[in-house]
Amino acid sequence: MLYFVATLSVLFVVLFLLLLFTWKNGVSPMPTSHKIRDVLLENLPKLNEGTVIELGSGWGNLLFPLSEKYADCSIIGFENSPIPYLFSSFLNHSKNLKIVRHDFFEKSLRDANLIICYLFPASMERLKEKLERELRPGTQVVSHTHEIPTWKPKKTISVDSSTIYLYEVPGKL
Ligand SMILES: C[S@@+](CC[C@H](N)C(=O)[O-])C[C@H]1O[C@@H](n2cnc3c(N)ncnc32)[C@H](O)[C@@H]1O
Repeated sequence: MLYFVATLSVLFVVLFLLLLFTWKNGVSPMPTSHKIRDVLLENLPKLNEGTVIELGSGWGNLLFPLSEKYADCSIIGFENSPIPYLFSSFLNHSKNLKIVRHDFFEKSLRDANLIICYLFPASMERLKEKLERELRPGTQVVSHTHEIPTWKPKKTISVDSSTIYLYEVPGKL
């Protein structure tokens, strides 16, 4: 009986935290589909060094393949929802990957060479302003499903009913 009550309480807390942060962020930790992930990984720019940042890394569906693809880069995933953060941190054994439990809007993205995100429409305008303030010329930005308002992608790829948008911050360092 005690075991049953304890399990139920843990499930309740997990569910409560998932719902709370879905409400707070305006988006659930819904993972990128396998199909979009595979097409996205195939089309990401080449990088031999530098910093790759995933904004809202969720359960790690994109983050772990990114740390393999960019083995010589430093990979950072920002995720503020505690359950996906704990889950992905538990699975993280990669030396080049750091998962940070923080609101990415409060972190500087200045060092990024490549930014990847799958967020939600209402966050894209605020994100655009942050990217325009902080990113250096030449930084690559890849967003799927939701575009960055007014930015002109250098390439778009349709996958099922979604689109992957590939951008580059104009100018040279
Ligand atoms: C749609 S999910 C995508 C998860 C993962 N990137 C993927 O593609 O599989 C969006 C994630 O962003 C996280 N998120 C949203 N706003 C955030 C913020 N301001 N700071 C950190 N994480 C955020 C959510 O908690 C959620 O896990």
